[in-house]
Amino acid sequence: MPDESQIRADIERLRREKNAVIIAHNYQRPEVQAVADYVGDSLGLSRQAAKTDADVIVFAGVHFMAETAAILNPDKTVLLPDLRAGCSLADTVTAQGIRDWKTQNPGGLVVTYVNTTADVKAESDYCCTSGNAVQIVQNLPADVPVLFAPDRFLAAHVIRETGRAMDVWDGACHVHEAIRPEDVTDQQAAYPDAELLIHPECGCSTKILGTLPELQLYSTEGMVHRARQSAAQEFIVVTETGMVTRLEHDVPEKTFIPVSRTACCEYMKMITLENIRDALENLQPRVTVPADIREKALVPIERMLAIG
Ligand code: 13P
Ligand code: SF4
Repeated sequence: MPDESQIRADIERLRREKNAVIIAHNYQRPEVQAVADYVGDSLGLSRQAAKTDADVIVFAGVHFMAETAAILNPDKTVLLPDLRAGCSLADTVTAQGIRDWKTQNPGGLVVTYVNTTADVKAESDYCCTSGNAVQIVQNLPADVPVLFAPDRFLAAHVIRETGRAMDVWDGACHVHEAIRPEDVTDQQAAYPDAELLIHPECGCSTKILGTLPELQLYSTEGMVHRARQSAAQEFIVVTETGMVTRLEHDVPEKTFIPVSRTACCEYMKMITLENIRDALENLQPRVTVPADIREKALVPIERMLAIG
């Protein structure tokens, strides 16, 4: 079995030979983040996918993210090193579910979180990520009903921030939903000077927010910006544990405490150095989107990228 440095050398060689780019989400394993050309949140990854001139995109993330890259780049090869890397939140909504919802709410504008399948995006008017959901909803015409899917906690955050009533899908991410308010308050008791960085997908946010003087919800990339500019030296990171890797890398002079060691997305961790090397070697497994779905799904993604 080759050691890790040999696998990294193979990845370097293959990346050059195949004119490939490796883009990784902030929740990826430390060794995967270390070989990536770009590490970021869903919005940043979509932007990178939209502008890359590589022939091959290796997506170190989950399936809906690779699909978004494939929608934006129909002529490129998009690889997801383990096709089982799904998303429990994306699994809470289907295209038929959105069609039925629209029938029940004629004239409504459908805003879907990027954590959805391509065929759900194809039924949507706008896409959003945690980094721009508030901005997207603020940009919608005021007199139109808004149907927001699938994350009910992100929706609650958008409603709080915009003051706009929305019809909300009843979805959640199993990792973020499982973070309890007492996980947060226990860490606050242990680290009284630490600032909170909370992801809007967290179920705990609804209870915790009422106790805070100011809003402390950030997309994963927003957490990096906040940690850089805040006067605080310590932060409790209320999201998936991989985020601590990215924060420690980018803001090494500060301390980051995971809210819970068990807040771990098993889908994100399916991507490894070995399967990245194998994907580059074999140019498999690929993620493709049928042309009719791609054309329709591109519309809400491009609207999102144009706004925020
Ligand atoms: P971000 O867009 O904030 O990175 O979130 C994506 C995600 O899947 C969170 O669970
Ligand atoms: Fe999906 Fe949750 Fe994993 Fe993010 S952390 S990819 S929302 S299952």
